[in-house]
Amino acid sequence: MKAIVQDRYGSPETLTLAEVDKPVPAADEVLVRVEAAALNAYDWHAMRGDPRMARLAMGRSGPKARIRGRDFAGRVEAVGPHVREMRPGDAVFGDLGDANGAFAEYVCVPEALVAPKPANLTPQQAAALPLAGITALMGLRDAGQVEPGHRVLINGASGGVGTLAVQLAKALGATVTAVCRTRNVDLIRSLGADRVVDYTRDDFTRDARRHDVLFDLVGNRSLTALRRALTPTGTLVLSGGGVYRGGSVIGPVWLLMRGRMLAPFIRHRIVILATAPSRQHLDALRAYAEAGRLTPVIDRTYPLHGVPQAIRYLEGEHARAKVVITT
Ligand SMILES: NC(=O)c1ccc[n+]([C@@H]2O[C@H](COP(=O)([O-])OP(=O)(O)OC[C@H]3O[C@@H](n4cnc5c(N)ncnc54)[C@H](OP(=O)(O)O)[C@@H]3O)[C@@H](O)[C@H]2O)c1
Repeated sequence: MKAIVQDRYGSPETLTLAEVDKPVPAADEVLVRVEAAALNAYDWHAMRGDPRMARLAMGRSGPKARIRGRDFAGRVEAVGPHVREMRPGDAVFGDLGDANGAFAEYVCVPEALVAPKPANLTPQQAAALPLAGITALMGLRDAGQVEPGHRVLINGASGGVGTLAVQLAKALGATVTAVCRTRNVDLIRSLGADRVVDYTRDDFTRDARRHDVLFDLVGNRSLTALRRALTPTGTLVLSGGGVYRGGSVIGPVWLLMRGRMLAPFIRHRIVILATAPSRQHLDALRAYAEAGRLTPVIDRTYPLHGVPQAIRYLEGEHARAKVVITT
């Protein structure tokens, strides 16, 4: 089968289209013919081995997982003998987690990490949901404990996570303030945001409005500034952030570390988000999608051999929402 492989960390030039062995499902795995995959900020972190400390898990001298990509949607082609629910022909979607492997014609995935595809979404839309959607769900529902009537602010609203987070916050009953650049204001308003702050003109940490939950997906503001935008007992959910553009994500890493150190001593709740793929979250995302509350926005679609160009676009050119690969 064809796959995008990588043997050393570096720029998108280190990614090549290669012929590799088609995977064989283990006893508890399903083999999926990938119809679409989606890019996440995670993919360029994994490609560059950045931040460097993450290489302890991803592989010291080069990526342990040779095939890049996490999110996929496709059809089950075969199942291992211990698989209970999934059957060949089922339309599914999922997140491969740190195992990676989605930028390929086939993937093997444990049955526990794959779910039926939302019936009303195309494979491209379904592939755009897992990692970004799980992050949004964990950030708002689980960590943020968003309830009807809460005032929620999302910094980084036009990105892959942010465009889903705006919709989920509305579905949870919140009043949503979304922060993005000028050209994305109309898009974000169309997703349901009650108020949009254009960060090129206004500073959301300097206005009088206070929020019950602040979901930060950018990592470009200090803890002091972010906390200024919270109610006295509000919750700050830090997801990381960091835009490559020739730099490094070390700034946001410090923000997370400082947040962890400060959390026990203040009234604000500070939660450092660490997402993990799960069937339970995929099922919740499907329910929101099928109820018409969650529709992924796709910015661009590339063929499998276009993954290097797609990652270059994602990391350098302010991509909007999701960038998707069709195989
Ligand atoms: N903790 C976890 O487990 C976890 C899981 C998933 C993702 N993440 C992290 O969460 C972050 C967001 O993920 P994503 O997939 O949504 O990334 P993305 O699609 O690349 O979105 C990044 C967002 O940052 C915004 N941005 C860039 N510069 C900005 C600035 N100066 N001020 C305000 N906004 C700015 C972008 O908007 P403009 O283009 O309009 O500037 C865009 O909305 C990533 O860094 C990712 O690594 C963490």
